[in-house]
Order: sequence, then structure tokens, then C-alpha cells
Amino acid sequence: MIQTMQQIATIAKMRTHINEARRQGKRIGIVPTMGFLHEGHLSLVKAAREKCDLIVMSIFVNPLQFGPNEDFERYPRNIERDREMAASAGVDLLFTPEVSEMYPKPILTNISVANVTAPLCGASRPGHFDGVATVVTKLFQIVQPDYAFFGQKDAQQVAVITQMVHDLSMPVQIVPCPIIREADGLAMSSRNVYLSQEERTQALVLSQSLKLAETWLDEGIALVEIKDRLIQKITEMPLASIDYVEILRFPNLEPVEQEVAGQAIIIALAVKFGKTRLIDNLITEIR
Ligand code: PAF
Repeated sequence: MIQTMQQIATIAKMRTHINEARRQGKRIGIVPTMGFLHEGHLSLVKAAREKCDLIVMSIFVNPLQFGPNEDFERYPRNIERDREMAASAGVDLLFTPEVSEMYPKPILTNISVANVTAPLCGASRPGHFDGVATVVTKLFQIVQPDYAFFGQKDAQQVAVITQMVHDLSMPVQIVPCPIIREADGLAMSSRNVYLSQEERTQALVLSQSLKLAETWLDEGIALVEIKDRLIQKITEMPLASIDYVEILRFPNLEPVEQEVAGQAIIIALAVKFGKTRLIDNLITEIR
């Protein structure tokens, strides 16, 4: 389905469109992205189509959420390709502000969510979730969406944003959407493009070990043992270097003190293959 999509680069122009859409009583959905789109992003647009009359996709590589030694400069960008993909997927407004539009002056306001940001990527990437929460708040202020769509590959991000929206009574419903995988199981990510062929092959260990974890849970293996087995399996890959392998309660991301059947858990992995850090997870329950 190709339809007319408008690309908008300024906050003022976006507000004009949003005011008109609100006047017409449209339900507005936002799909926030950093671009270099893939099927995962398009699945969010598809989910948005089901609930919304107007879909805004933002493409903004947000400097606030990158650490000093991270990949902000080299993060993959291809706006022409993104524009075509977004239009074909049914995006109505593509918001593509420059950094100077979003942050014309050094930003002195920081949105910081406690507790859910402490483990996993919050521990490995200090300040990352402050950057995410701050830019998402700003996008919500600009677009005033009724719904916002996020992929569960970034499950901690979804937990952080859900907490923030609840705590600050933001009038938006967060819609988590399932992880989209390549045919061989690799979770889709804009960063997959960094991988050499060898790294990509070895990265399949992430989805494979999560599948194994599911069978180990079915067999009633204890979580500590499952964690050990996961570490062992991933370590068999010579190019893999583990950032974390964790099993936590979900969605509060607290330690599992006692294994209670039916309790929701997340098995979360962050592993570097060469220089590329990948994350993957499984949200499931204790048997
Ligand atoms: O998930 C992402 O791509 C980013 O963290 C987000 C939500 C667009 C904020 O920059």
C-alpha cells in the first residue's frame, strides 16, 4: 500500500499537523525509531494501523542515549531508503528532526526512572535510559500520541517507558510488540549490519540458547543452572564476549528470590560479537 506520506523536520510544523488531526478527532499513534528501518519497525507500523487513524514515525538518532565510547557517529543511517519503507508501510507523517531542532541549546532537563533502569543495559550503559526517557518524553510532548509502539527486543526500554508513563500520568498507551526475527532466528536490529559473516553466524547462538532455555524450563531445571548453561553455550562461540546473561522477574526486573510457578520472568542476553553488542530476550514464566 503506497500512500502519501509527509516528511516533517520541525517541531512547529509537526504541531500544526497534530493540532489539525486532534481537531478532526483522529487517534494518533507514534512509532519512535532511530531509523535504518527493518521488518521489526514495520511490524510496529502494522500494529499502529490497527489502533490509529494517523501514524507518526520519528527517525532521530538521539545523542543523549549514547555513551562517549558508543556508536553515535557510525550508527547506520539511510533516510532515502527509510522514507520509501515508511511510506509503503503506511506511515502518515515521518518526523525527521536534526539534532539542532531537538536540542538547539544544551538540554538541562533529564528524565530519570529508578529501579527498572538499574540492572541489564542500565548497568552496562550508564545514562542510556535517561537519554531514552528524555527523548521519548519530548517526542510525546510534540506528537501527543494516544498510542506508542515499541518492540520487545528492547524489553527493558519498554519497562522503563511504561513506568515513566504511569508515574507521570502521561496520556498515552504503550503497546509492546513481539520481537521480529530473521528466518534463521537472529533478532532484527539496525546494528546487525555491523556484523561480519562469521560474527553473524556465531550470533545465532543468542536465539538458539533462548530456545534451549525454554526447554530447560519445561524440564524443571533451576534458574541458576539455566543461567550457567546459557553462559557455557554462548562462551563456546570464539567471537562472543558476554556483557550479561540474566534471569529476572518481569516486568519489574527484580531478582527472582523464590521460584514460583507461573511467575513471569525475562531471560535477557547482551553479548558482543567483535565490536558489535547485540541484545535478545525471552519473556516467559517459571513452570
Ligand atoms: O528504540 C529506539 O530506537 C530508541 O531507543 C528510541 C525509543 C527511538 C528513542 O531514541
